[in-house]
Amino acid sequence: MRIVAVPPIKLSLPLLLALLVAGSGIARAADDAVARGKYLYNAAGCGGCHGGDVNGGPPGGGKGLATPFGVFHVPNISSDPQFGIGRWTDADFRQALRHGIAPGGKQLFPVFPFPSFSGLTDRDMDDVFAYIHSLPAATTPNQPHEVKPPFGWRWTMVFWRSLFFTPGPLQPVADRSALWNRGNYLVHAVAHCEECHTPRNPLGALRHSRAFSGNIHGPDGQNAPNITSDKETGIGSWSVEEIEHLLKTGETPDFDSVASGMTAVVRGTSKLSDADRHAIAVYIASIPPIHTQRPPPKPAS
Ligand code: HEC
Ligand code: HEC
Repeated sequence: MRIVAVPPIKLSLPLLLALLVAGSGIARAADDAVARGKYLYNAAGCGGCHGGDVNGGPPGGGKGLATPFGVFHVPNISSDPQFGIGRWTDADFRQALRHGIAPGGKQLFPVFPFPSFSGLTDRDMDDVFAYIHSLPAATTPNQPHEVKPPFGWRWTMVFWRSLFFTPGPLQPVADRSALWNRGNYLVHAVAHCEECHTPRNPLGALRHSRAFSGNIHGPDGQNAPNITSDKETGIGSWSVEEIEHLLKTGETPDFDSVASGMTAVVRGTSKLSDADRHAIAVYIASIPPIHTQRPPPKPAS
């Protein structure tokens, strides 16, 4: 019998410390990702559509969204491997948000605001996914959409996409301040304000030339007002502070409270940092005025 002398591994104190620090560094990075993901998830209102809202419940889906094309049933995006997206990889998740394509090549409909989320950075997408994984799983089965043909045909999205969709992370605008650019990112890629406040063409694509000028046929029958800086038909008479106040409390300068879909938006924006709310308000106040022809119907109070 041969006895092999195993040299003792020398765990010097500095090495041990380095290993401990690295280990806790990884754990801390994971915690950071979940916390950042939660912040973005709430600001993006993922839970408002997918369920659980901002209270940390599972995004089990189920809600029906009425559109001019029919009713879309919001799917389960919880971490359940069978009913949710628990088996998806980071790359699958990015592909869905960046390109609107689910595993297996399934073309997603833009009622899921992927044309906006496409502007998110890879890191922000990964962090949102990490947060979804930290939420409880739901075993709610998905329901089929009740949408009239041809709007329920996924393959038609190939054409829709080539006409109306440009994927890719939102690029900073060089001659604007960091604050304005942060607002631009939050408004477009995260909180997707245009999805409700911009009118759509007959194929359901946003008419960016009329950006933020209001949409009386907003999702779920919502009437989203003109929020451009037009003094008469938009919110051009509001100060930056007044816009911030609305995003924090839901209160308008005339002591009204926003209702309808905007209440869910405010549940998200009320959880933002003051600096981020300020950035959104600075960006919104900078939107060029668009005068809408008919006086916009008074938002329901
Ligand atoms: C306005 C409502 C709405 C919001 C807000 C929304 N979604 Fe969705 N989402 C949908 C609908 C509806 C679908 C189904 C689309 C389809 O069937 O093509 C969907 C589909 C998805 C899918 C594909 C699921 C699958 O099984 O194919 C993922 C992933 C997803 N959403 C993640 C998110 C994330 C993450 C957020 C927030 C950043 C978010 N969604 C915000 C409505 C929404
Ligand atoms: C889910 C659809 C939806 C989204 C997304 C949305 N809004 Fe709204 N918004 C509405 C609706 C609907 C109203 C009208 C509320 C009412 O009837 O009281 C409204 C009202 C407002 C008002 C008050 C305007 C007025 O004249 O009283 C402002 C300002 C506003 N939204 C800004 C934003 C900003 C900024 C974002 C993005 C952070 C955003 N909205 C995202 C639907 C939306």
